[in-house]
Amino acid sequence: MSTSPEPLVFPPDFLWGTATAAHQIEGGNINSDWWVFENKGDSSVAEPSGDACDSYNRWEADLDLVASMGLQSYRFSIEWSRIEPEEGRYSFAERDHYLQICKGARARGLLPVVTFHHFTSPRWFAERGGFEWSEAPERFARYVSFVAETLGPEIALACTINEPNIVAFMGYGFGAFPPGIVNDFERVRSVNATLLEAHHQAVTALRNAPGVFPIGLTLSMAELIALDGGEEARDDFQEMMEDCYLRELQDDDFIGVQCYTRFFFNHGGLSLGSPGTRSTPMGYEFWPNCVEATVRRAAAMTGLPIVVTENGVSTTNDQERIEYLDGALRSLHRVLREGVDVRGYFCWSLLDNFEWAFGYQQHFGLVSVDRSTFVRTPKPSADFYGSVAKSRTLGGAPRWRESS
Ligand code: FCB
Repeated sequence: MSTSPEPLVFPPDFLWGTATAAHQIEGGNINSDWWVFENKGDSSVAEPSGDACDSYNRWEADLDLVASMGLQSYRFSIEWSRIEPEEGRYSFAERDHYLQICKGARARGLLPVVTFHHFTSPRWFAERGGFEWSEAPERFARYVSFVAETLGPEIALACTINEPNIVAFMGYGFGAFPPGIVNDFERVRSVNATLLEAHHQAVTALRNAPGVFPIGLTLSMAELIALDGGEEARDDFQEMMEDCYLRELQDDDFIGVQCYTRFFFNHGGLSLGSPGTRSTPMGYEFWPNCVEATVRRAAAMTGLPIVVTENGVSTTNDQERIEYLDGALRSLHRVLREGVDVRGYFCWSLLDNFEWAFGYQQHFGLVSVDRSTFVRTPKPSADFYGSVAKSRTLGGAPRWRESS
Protein backbone atom coordinates (compact mmCIF):
# COMPACT_ATOMS: atom_id res chain seq x y z
CA MET A 1 0.00 0.00 0.00
CA SER A 2 1.41 3.40 -0.87
CA THR A 3 1.47 5.92 1.93
CA SER A 4 0.98 9.65 1.40
CA PRO A 5 3.90 11.84 2.38
CA GLU A 6 3.62 13.66 5.70
CA PRO A 7 1.70 16.92 5.27
CA LEU A 8 3.84 20.05 5.56
CA VAL A 9 2.64 22.21 8.43
CA PHE A 10 3.36 25.95 8.56
CA PRO A 11 3.73 27.91 11.81
CA PRO A 12 0.49 29.14 13.43
CA ASP A 13 1.48 32.80 13.25
CA PHE A 14 2.67 32.63 9.61
CA LEU A 15 1.01 35.36 7.54
CA TRP A 16 -0.73 34.38 4.29
CA GLY A 17 -1.63 37.03 1.77
CA THR A 18 -1.81 38.18 -1.78
CA ALA A 19 -0.45 41.32 -3.42
CA THR A 20 -1.38 43.96 -5.98
CA ALA A 21 -0.02 47.36 -7.02
CA ALA A 22 -2.00 50.55 -7.65
CA HIS A 23 -1.05 51.20 -11.26
CA GLN A 24 -1.60 47.59 -12.25
CA ILE A 25 -5.19 47.45 -11.01
CA GLU A 26 -6.69 50.89 -10.35
CA GLY A 27 -7.06 52.33 -13.84
CA GLY A 28 -6.86 55.97 -14.94
CA ASN A 29 -3.59 56.92 -13.24
CA ILE A 30 -3.23 59.85 -15.59
CA ASN A 31 -0.79 61.82 -13.43
CA SER A 32 1.89 59.13 -13.29
CA ASP A 33 5.09 58.80 -15.30
CA TRP A 34 3.97 55.36 -16.47
CA TRP A 35 0.80 56.80 -18.03
CA VAL A 36 2.98 59.13 -20.11
CA PHE A 37 5.38 56.27 -20.97
CA GLU A 38 2.58 53.90 -22.05
CA ASN A 39 0.73 56.45 -24.14
CA LYS A 40 3.68 57.89 -26.11
CA GLY A 41 3.41 57.39 -29.85
CA ASP A 42 6.56 55.27 -29.98
CA SER A 43 5.94 53.46 -26.71
CA SER A 44 7.52 50.05 -26.30
CA VAL A 45 4.74 49.09 -23.85
CA ALA A 46 2.45 46.46 -25.40
CA GLU A 47 -0.71 48.46 -24.62
CA PRO A 48 -1.68 51.26 -22.22
CA SER A 49 -3.05 50.50 -18.74
CA GLY A 50 -6.35 52.33 -19.41
CA ASP A 51 -9.01 51.23 -16.93
CA ALA A 52 -6.86 48.36 -15.59
CA CYS A 53 -9.13 46.31 -13.28
CA ASP A 54 -11.07 49.42 -12.22
CA SER A 55 -9.97 48.67 -8.68
CA TYR A 56 -9.97 52.36 -7.81
CA ASN A 57 -13.76 51.91 -7.76
CA ARG A 58 -13.96 48.19 -7.03
CA TRP A 59 -11.55 47.89 -4.10
CA GLU A 60 -14.29 46.56 -1.83
CA ALA A 61 -14.92 43.67 -4.20
CA ASP A 62 -11.16 42.99 -4.20
CA LEU A 63 -11.04 42.89 -0.40
CA ASP A 64 -14.08 40.59 -0.35
CA LEU A 65 -12.22 38.20 -2.66
CA VAL A 66 -9.12 38.14 -0.45
CA ALA A 67 -11.24 37.53 2.65
CA SER A 68 -13.33 34.84 0.98
CA MET A 69 -10.17 32.94 0.05
CA GLY A 70 -9.40 32.71 3.76
CA LEU A 71 -6.23 34.82 3.61
CA GLN A 72 -5.17 37.07 6.47
CA SER A 73 -3.52 39.91 4.67
CA TYR A 74 -3.70 42.12 1.59
CA ARG A 75 -0.69 43.94 0.16
CA PHE A 76 -1.52 46.93 -2.01
CA SER A 77 0.17 50.19 -2.95
CA ILE A 78 -0.56 53.88 -2.63
CA GLU A 79 -0.40 55.79 -5.89
CA TRP A 80 1.88 58.76 -5.21
CA SER A 81 0.62 60.59 -8.33
CA ARG A 82 -2.91 60.60 -6.89
CA ILE A 83 -1.74 61.88 -3.48
CA GLU A 84 0.55 64.58 -4.93
CA PRO A 85 -0.58 65.19 -8.53
CA GLU A 86 1.27 68.51 -8.67
CA GLU A 87 4.46 69.24 -6.77
CA GLY A 88 3.62 70.16 -3.18
CA ARG A 89 -0.16 69.88 -3.68
CA TYR A 90 -1.40 67.03 -1.57
CA SER A 91 -4.88 65.55 -1.87
CA PHE A 92 -6.70 64.86 1.38
CA ALA A 93 -9.47 63.11 -0.54
CA GLU A 94 -7.07 60.64 -2.16
CA ARG A 95 -5.37 59.98 1.16
CA ASP A 96 -8.78 59.26 2.62
CA HIS A 97 -9.46 56.84 -0.24
CA TYR A 98 -6.48 54.72 0.85
CA LEU A 99 -7.40 55.07 4.52
CA GLN A 100 -10.79 53.56 3.67
CA ILE A 101 -9.04 50.62 1.98
CA CYS A 102 -6.98 50.04 5.16
CA LYS A 103 -10.10 50.21 7.29
CA GLY A 104 -12.02 48.02 4.86
CA ALA A 105 -9.26 45.42 5.09
CA ARG A 106 -9.29 45.50 8.89
CA ALA A 107 -13.10 45.24 8.93
CA ARG A 108 -12.75 41.98 6.97
CA GLY A 109 -10.05 40.63 9.26
CA LEU A 110 -7.25 41.39 6.78
CA LEU A 111 -3.97 43.02 7.80
CA PRO A 112 -3.11 45.89 5.44
CA VAL A 113 0.42 45.71 4.02
CA VAL A 114 1.03 49.10 2.46
CA THR A 115 3.60 49.83 -0.27
CA PHE A 116 4.43 53.50 -0.79
CA HIS A 117 6.10 53.26 -4.18
CA HIS A 118 5.38 50.48 -6.63
CA PHE A 119 7.17 51.52 -9.84
CA THR A 120 5.15 54.69 -10.56
CA SER A 121 6.05 58.29 -9.73
CA PRO A 122 4.13 61.50 -10.40
CA ARG A 123 4.79 63.13 -13.78
CA TRP A 124 6.15 66.29 -12.17
CA PHE A 125 8.66 64.19 -10.22
CA ALA A 126 9.81 62.39 -13.38
CA GLU A 127 10.18 65.76 -15.13
CA ARG A 128 12.52 66.85 -12.33
CA GLY A 129 14.68 63.82 -13.07
CA GLY A 130 12.95 61.11 -11.01
CA PHE A 131 15.40 59.26 -8.80
CA GLU A 132 18.29 61.08 -10.44
CA TRP A 133 17.12 64.34 -8.86
CA SER A 134 19.13 65.28 -5.78
CA GLU A 135 15.96 66.20 -3.88
CA ALA A 136 14.20 62.93 -4.77
CA PRO A 137 14.73 61.19 -1.40
CA GLU A 138 13.41 64.14 0.56
CA ARG A 139 10.38 64.63 -1.71
CA PHE A 140 9.53 60.96 -1.51
CA ALA A 141 9.83 60.98 2.29
CA ARG A 142 7.60 64.07 2.48
CA TYR A 143 4.84 62.25 0.59
CA VAL A 144 5.28 59.20 2.80
CA SER A 145 4.91 61.37 5.94
CA PHE A 146 1.75 62.95 4.60
CA VAL A 147 0.15 59.56 3.95
CA ALA A 148 1.30 57.97 7.19
CA GLU A 149 -0.15 60.85 9.25
CA THR A 150 -3.57 59.23 8.89
CA LEU A 151 -2.84 55.70 7.64
CA GLY A 152 -0.14 54.96 10.23
CA PRO A 153 -2.44 53.58 12.93
CA GLU A 154 -4.03 51.18 10.41
CA ILE A 155 -0.86 49.82 8.76
CA ALA A 156 0.23 46.28 9.66
CA LEU A 157 3.45 46.28 7.64
CA ALA A 158 4.98 49.06 5.54
CA CYS A 159 6.99 48.53 2.36
CA THR A 160 8.73 51.76 1.39
CA ILE A 161 9.81 51.09 -2.20
CA ASN A 162 8.95 48.06 -4.29
CA GLU A 163 11.90 46.56 -6.15
CA PRO A 164 14.03 49.69 -6.37
CA ASN A 165 16.59 47.53 -8.20
CA ILE A 166 14.05 46.93 -10.98
CA VAL A 167 13.15 50.62 -11.17
CA ALA A 168 16.85 51.39 -11.75
CA PHE A 169 17.67 48.44 -14.00
CA MET A 170 14.56 48.56 -16.18
CA GLY A 171 14.67 52.37 -16.40
CA TYR A 172 18.36 52.84 -17.23
CA GLY A 173 19.76 49.42 -18.21
CA PHE A 174 17.05 47.54 -20.08
CA GLY A 175 14.87 50.48 -21.10
CA ALA A 176 11.52 48.76 -20.49
CA PHE A 177 10.46 51.22 -17.74
CA PRO A 178 10.51 55.02 -17.76
CA PRO A 179 12.66 56.85 -18.70
CA GLY A 180 13.45 54.05 -21.19
CA ILE A 181 17.25 54.37 -21.21
CA VAL A 182 19.32 51.41 -22.36
CA ASN A 183 22.72 50.16 -21.19
CA ASP A 184 23.69 53.08 -18.95
CA PHE A 185 24.95 51.03 -16.01
CA GLU A 186 26.63 53.98 -14.32
CA ARG A 187 23.20 55.53 -14.05
CA VAL A 188 21.69 52.25 -12.86
CA ARG A 189 24.19 52.32 -9.99
CA SER A 190 23.61 55.93 -9.09
CA VAL A 191 19.81 55.54 -9.25
CA ASN A 192 20.17 52.52 -6.96
CA ALA A 193 22.04 54.74 -4.49
CA THR A 194 19.39 57.48 -4.62
CA LEU A 195 16.60 54.95 -4.18
CA LEU A 196 18.39 53.52 -1.17
CA GLU A 197 18.65 56.98 0.33
CA ALA A 198 14.94 57.56 -0.42
CA HIS A 199 14.21 54.30 1.39
CA HIS A 200 16.23 55.37 4.45
CA GLN A 201 14.48 58.74 4.60
CA ALA A 202 11.10 57.04 4.25
CA VAL A 203 11.95 54.69 7.13
CA THR A 204 12.67 57.70 9.33
CA ALA A 205 9.44 59.36 8.20
CA LEU A 206 7.46 56.23 9.03
CA ARG A 207 9.13 55.82 12.42
CA ASN A 208 8.07 59.37 13.24
CA ALA A 209 4.49 58.76 12.11
CA PRO A 210 1.65 57.55 14.31
CA GLY A 211 1.25 53.78 14.66
CA VAL A 212 3.73 50.99 15.29
CA PHE A 213 4.46 48.61 12.43
CA PRO A 214 7.47 46.88 10.90
CA ILE A 215 9.09 48.71 7.98
CA GLY A 216 11.17 47.33 5.12
CA LEU A 217 11.76 47.42 1.41
CA THR A 218 10.92 44.73 -1.08
CA LEU A 219 13.69 43.53 -3.38
CA SER A 220 13.52 41.65 -6.65
CA MET A 221 15.74 38.62 -6.25
CA ALA A 222 16.47 35.54 -8.32
CA GLU A 223 18.47 32.40 -7.81
CA LEU A 224 21.69 33.39 -9.59
CA ILE A 225 23.81 30.52 -10.84
CA ALA A 226 27.29 30.80 -12.31
CA LEU A 227 28.15 28.17 -14.88
CA ASP A 228 31.79 27.52 -15.65
CA GLY A 229 33.46 30.84 -16.39
CA GLY A 230 30.35 32.82 -15.41
CA GLU A 231 31.41 33.68 -11.86
CA GLU A 232 32.50 37.23 -12.54
CA ALA A 233 29.39 38.08 -14.56
CA ARG A 234 27.19 36.57 -11.84
CA ASP A 235 28.99 38.47 -9.08
CA ASP A 236 28.74 41.78 -10.95
CA PHE A 237 25.04 41.29 -11.59
CA GLN A 238 24.44 40.21 -8.00
CA GLU A 239 26.23 43.28 -6.71
CA MET A 240 24.27 45.68 -8.94
CA MET A 241 20.87 44.03 -8.44
CA GLU A 242 20.89 42.68 -4.91
CA ASP A 243 23.94 43.12 -2.71
CA CYS A 244 24.16 46.91 -2.96
CA TYR A 245 20.77 46.91 -1.19
CA LEU A 246 21.08 43.86 1.07
CA ARG A 247 24.23 45.29 2.68
CA GLU A 248 22.51 48.53 3.67
CA LEU A 249 19.30 47.41 5.31
CA GLN A 250 20.46 46.45 8.80
CA ASP A 251 18.33 49.11 10.49
CA ASP A 252 15.10 47.92 8.88
CA ASP A 253 12.57 45.68 10.60
CA PHE A 254 12.24 43.11 7.79
CA ILE A 255 13.14 42.51 4.18
CA GLY A 256 10.60 41.65 1.50
CA VAL A 257 11.90 38.98 -0.87
CA GLN A 258 10.28 38.82 -4.34
CA CYS A 259 11.31 36.03 -6.62
CA TYR A 260 10.01 34.27 -9.70
CA THR A 261 12.82 32.26 -11.26
CA ARG A 262 16.56 31.61 -11.60
CA PHE A 263 19.16 32.94 -13.99
CA PHE A 264 22.34 31.36 -15.31
CA PHE A 265 25.56 33.16 -16.16
CA ASN A 266 28.31 32.01 -18.47
CA HIS A 267 31.46 33.79 -19.66
CA GLY A 268 29.28 35.85 -22.02
CA GLY A 269 27.10 37.10 -19.15
CA LEU A 270 23.44 36.44 -18.37
CA SER A 271 21.95 33.59 -20.37
CA LEU A 272 18.16 33.63 -20.16
CA GLY A 273 16.92 30.08 -19.61
CA SER A 274 18.97 27.04 -20.51
CA PRO A 275 18.12 24.83 -23.43
CA GLY A 276 15.58 22.22 -22.44
CA THR A 277 14.26 24.09 -19.40
CA ARG A 278 10.56 24.76 -19.11
CA SER A 279 9.68 28.39 -19.61
CA THR A 280 6.70 30.60 -18.81
CA PRO A 281 5.09 33.29 -20.99
CA MET A 282 7.29 35.92 -19.24
CA GLY A 283 10.30 34.13 -20.70
CA TYR A 284 11.27 33.00 -17.21
CA GLU A 285 12.22 29.45 -16.42
CA PHE A 286 9.46 27.65 -14.46
CA TRP A 287 11.43 27.41 -11.23
CA PRO A 288 9.43 27.60 -7.99
CA ASN A 289 12.52 26.53 -5.98
CA CYS A 290 13.84 30.07 -6.37
CA VAL A 291 12.08 30.79 -3.05
CA GLU A 292 14.53 28.94 -0.86
CA ALA A 293 17.69 30.20 -2.55
CA THR A 294 16.62 33.84 -2.41
CA VAL A 295 15.21 33.68 1.12
CA ARG A 296 18.38 32.01 2.42
CA ARG A 297 20.62 34.61 0.84
CA ALA A 298 18.52 37.57 1.99
CA ALA A 299 18.47 36.20 5.54
CA ALA A 300 22.20 35.46 5.59
CA MET A 301 23.13 38.90 4.25
CA THR A 302 20.77 41.05 6.30
CA GLY A 303 20.05 39.04 9.44
CA LEU A 304 16.51 40.41 9.16
CA PRO A 305 13.19 38.59 9.38
CA ILE A 306 11.92 37.79 5.89
CA VAL A 307 8.54 38.21 4.30
CA VAL A 308 8.09 36.75 0.82
CA THR A 309 6.17 39.77 -0.45
CA GLU A 310 5.78 38.44 -4.02
CA ASN A 311 6.00 35.09 -5.74
CA GLY A 312 3.87 33.56 -8.45
CA VAL A 313 3.74 32.63 -12.10
CA SER A 314 2.29 33.94 -15.33
CA THR A 315 0.30 31.26 -17.09
CA THR A 316 -3.00 30.76 -18.87
CA ASN A 317 -3.09 27.19 -17.58
CA ASP A 318 -4.31 27.46 -14.00
CA GLN A 319 -3.26 23.89 -13.16
CA GLU A 320 0.26 25.07 -13.90
CA ARG A 321 -0.19 27.90 -11.37
CA ILE A 322 -1.25 25.33 -8.75
CA GLU A 323 1.81 23.29 -9.61
CA TYR A 324 4.04 26.37 -9.25
CA LEU A 325 2.51 27.45 -5.93
CA ASP A 326 2.77 23.92 -4.59
CA GLY A 327 6.47 23.84 -5.52
CA ALA A 328 7.11 27.31 -4.13
CA LEU A 329 5.43 26.53 -0.80
CA ARG A 330 7.40 23.31 -0.43
CA SER A 331 10.55 25.31 -1.12
CA LEU A 332 9.47 27.86 1.49
CA HIS A 333 8.78 25.10 4.00
CA ARG A 334 12.33 23.80 3.58
CA VAL A 335 13.81 27.13 4.69
CA LEU A 336 11.37 27.40 7.56
CA ARG A 337 12.47 23.95 8.69
CA GLU A 338 16.09 25.09 8.55
CA GLY A 339 15.11 27.74 11.08
CA VAL A 340 15.18 30.78 8.79
CA ASP A 341 12.91 33.48 10.19
CA VAL A 342 10.27 33.80 7.47
CA ARG A 343 7.12 35.56 8.64
CA GLY A 344 4.78 35.42 5.68
CA TYR A 345 4.10 34.70 2.01
CA PHE A 346 2.20 36.84 -0.48
CA CYS A 347 1.14 35.37 -3.78
CA TRP A 348 1.51 37.67 -6.79
CA SER A 349 -1.17 38.42 -7.70
CA LEU A 350 -4.78 38.66 -6.60
CA LEU A 351 -5.93 39.69 -10.09
CA ASP A 352 -4.89 39.29 -13.70
CA ASN A 353 -3.66 42.83 -14.23
CA PHE A 354 -1.53 45.31 -16.17
CA GLU A 355 1.88 43.67 -16.33
CA TRP A 356 3.92 46.79 -17.15
CA ALA A 357 5.70 46.53 -20.53
CA PHE A 358 3.71 43.36 -21.33
CA GLY A 359 0.33 45.08 -20.93
CA TYR A 360 -2.46 42.59 -20.30
CA GLN A 361 -0.71 39.69 -22.03
CA GLN A 362 0.46 38.05 -18.80
CA HIS A 363 -1.79 36.24 -16.34
CA PHE A 364 -0.42 36.19 -12.81
CA GLY A 365 -3.84 36.33 -11.10
CA LEU A 366 -5.58 33.93 -8.76
CA VAL A 367 -8.68 35.67 -10.11
CA SER A 368 -9.42 36.58 -13.71
CA VAL A 369 -10.93 39.92 -14.65
CA ASP A 370 -13.20 40.54 -17.63
CA ARG A 371 -11.58 43.38 -19.57
CA SER A 372 -14.81 45.19 -20.34
CA THR A 373 -17.20 44.36 -17.48
CA PHE A 374 -14.49 44.00 -14.79
CA VAL A 375 -16.30 40.96 -13.43
CA ARG A 376 -13.90 38.98 -11.26
CA THR A 377 -13.85 35.17 -11.39
CA PRO A 378 -11.70 33.19 -8.96
CA LYS A 379 -9.66 30.42 -10.57
CA PRO A 380 -9.10 26.95 -9.07
CA SER A 381 -5.68 28.20 -7.88
CA ALA A 382 -7.49 30.65 -5.58
CA ASP A 383 -9.18 27.67 -3.88
CA PHE A 384 -5.94 25.76 -3.74
CA TYR A 385 -3.97 28.63 -2.22
CA GLY A 386 -6.83 29.59 0.12
CA SER A 387 -7.12 26.07 1.45
CA VAL A 388 -3.38 25.87 2.19
CA ALA A 389 -3.61 29.23 3.97
CA LYS A 390 -6.69 28.26 6.00
CA SER A 391 -5.34 24.90 7.09
CA ARG A 392 -1.69 26.08 7.25
CA THR A 393 -0.98 22.71 5.78
CA LEU A 394 0.22 21.48 2.42
CA GLY A 395 -0.66 17.84 1.95
CA GLY A 396 -0.42 15.26 -0.79
CA ALA A 397 2.39 14.40 -3.12
CA PRO A 398 4.41 17.22 -4.70
CA ARG A 399 2.76 18.36 -7.93
CA TRP A 400 6.03 19.53 -9.43
CA ARG A 401 9.23 17.59 -9.89
CA GLU A 402 12.42 19.19 -11.06
CA SER A 403 12.76 16.74 -13.89
CA SER A 404 9.20 17.21 -15.12
C1 FCB B 1 7.42 42.17 -9.94
C2 FCB B 1 6.61 43.43 -9.70
C3 FCB B 1 5.13 43.23 -9.87
C4 FCB B 1 4.81 42.31 -11.01
C5 FCB B 1 5.57 41.03 -10.88
C6 FCB B 1 5.26 40.01 -11.95
O1 FCB B 1 8.67 42.51 -10.42
O2 FCB B 1 6.86 43.94 -8.42
O3 FCB B 1 4.54 44.51 -10.00
O4 FCB B 1 5.05 42.96 -12.19
O5 FCB B 1 6.94 41.29 -10.90
